[in-house]
Amino acid sequence: MVKKQKSGPIGVFDSGYGGLTVYKELKSKLPNHDFLYLGDNARVPYGSRSFDTVYKYTLECVNQLFDRGCNLVVLACNTASAKALRNIQQLDLPKIKSHKRVLGVIRPTTETIGQLTKTKHVGLFATTGTVRSESYKIEIDKFFPKVKLYQEACPMWVPLIENNEHLSVGANYFIRKHVDNLLSKSKKIDAIILACTHYPLLEKKLRRFIPKEIRLISQGEIVSNSLVDYLDRHPEMDLLITKKGKQSFLTTESTKDFNQKSVLFLGEKIKSDLLKL
Ligand code: DGL
Repeated sequence: MVKKQKSGPIGVFDSGYGGLTVYKELKSKLPNHDFLYLGDNARVPYGSRSFDTVYKYTLECVNQLFDRGCNLVVLACNTASAKALRNIQQLDLPKIKSHKRVLGVIRPTTETIGQLTKTKHVGLFATTGTVRSESYKIEIDKFFPKVKLYQEACPMWVPLIENNEHLSVGANYFIRKHVDNLLSKSKKIDAIILACTHYPLLEKKLRRFIPKEIRLISQGEIVSNSLVDYLDRHPEMDLLITKKGKQSFLTTESTKDFNQKSVLFLGEKIKSDLLKL
């Protein structure tokens, strides 16, 4: 007899707070679906870590979400999507439980990028890890081979945002520097992907340094549209998601800090629980 699978919330994972910018959109598109968010704040940033470390940390966190009943986990972190998703999907899921699924944020973004550029010259800001992985380039080449991608790693941006220093005057130096570097790579860039879930918090400031003709692309809406589409195409997975409109939050660091800082990302106060790894 086939064992009946238990339903549970959708897991949303990020190395810290950044994934909350994606989570916010997921929740607004799927208000009745239950969600469990996990931020690995104790080990953020992932962006400067090796492939093996990001894979190990991400897998640990995904397993924690599986253990808490999630059947579907969204890696709302570009660095984790770039460095761990493929291994988890191809090596770990078959070993764990085959009905569990893990999705990332890179594929939905690259699937839509061709519609968001006229010049076919696209810029990208991301962590060092995401840029070095070349994941965006590989995926864009598959869907839109005529699109040329120009990448710029911004290693200081996540620490500035995590420490709520991104709006300070001092932060301008690090923001301007990477904007100038990217724009100097091609005069034809007409769209820039904010390929790190933390970066939407910089959007207003980036606008001061980037001509208004250049479109800034945040991923929240793209990823949430893609998840809605995924659940439509996979009703068997949708049936495995509880729908009481519940949201829960876990952090591997101080819950007090998480509750306070999440306001910045979510615009609402929440109560988190500690996850000891
Ligand atoms: N939020 C992660 C991303 O989207 C980056 C943060 C980090 O470096 O841990 O890439």
